[in-house]
Amino acid sequence: MKDSALPRHIAIIMDGNGRWAEKRGLLRIQGHRQGARVLRSIVQACGDLGIEILSLYAFSLENWSRPSAEVNLLMKLLKIYLKRERAQLKKDNVKLMAVGDLDRLPEFVQAELQASIEATRSNTGLKLQLAISYSGRDEILRAVKKMMQDTSIQVDQINEADIEAHLDTKGQVSPDLVIRTSGELRLSNFMIWQTAYSEFFFSDKLWPDFDKPELEAAIESYQKRERRYGGIMSGYARRLDK
Ligand code: FPP
Repeated sequence: MKDSALPRHIAIIMDGNGRWAEKRGLLRIQGHRQGARVLRSIVQACGDLGIEILSLYAFSLENWSRPSAEVNLLMKLLKIYLKRERAQLKKDNVKLMAVGDLDRLPEFVQAELQASIEATRSNTGLKLQLAISYSGRDEILRAVKKMMQDTSIQVDQINEADIEAHLDTKGQVSPDLVIRTSGELRLSNFMIWQTAYSEFFFSDKLWPDFDKPELEAAIESYQKRERRYGGIMSGYARRLDK
């Protein structure tokens, strides 16, 4: 794979855990467990490749409406993941971060999350950003509320940078590449502000089957694209100049 033009920020919608389990006659939570194992290998692969930020949609605000048994098991799995991976993340120079309405998480998850954020705070390698209890519209709403509490802001002066400065992702480069697994072709309220100019890659693999070769296929597809941000193709612009 070419080193040139690697995406700086990759965002992944990890979908298909339930279907993976159901296809095998397993419980849905077993699909989530397998999904958590895959996470480790993808985090390591992104670190090795030199990606700056990997954002993962781990639990959406909408996911709170799933049956409470599944929600509880997902929260337990999250806690186990955070605890189990802490030492490895620290060793691999990964800096853990989180976005979303984190106050809604059970205390036992908040505690493990804060412990992992703290333990990896001074790491300088891959930034692993978990979106938990997250939705894009909610993030924008919270940002606007925070912004309006700032009395120095004048409504007719508000610009995009002001909104960005109040998002959970403030100061970050926006995702260059968004990957969604399981063949679904939706954004499902994930980073809807930040993905305005992202490139998309939809994989037919279910998340528990996602692997490094598929990640590389996504990056290679991204590298073949020309990002124009609403402009025109560079070669075409040159022809028009003549
Ligand atoms: C989507 O599959 C996945 C989720 C709702 C949760 C993602 C969780 C993991 C990958 C594992 C745990 C994560 C961490 C950070 C420990 P789905 O249930 O929507 O699958 P389906 O569409 O096939 O039903």
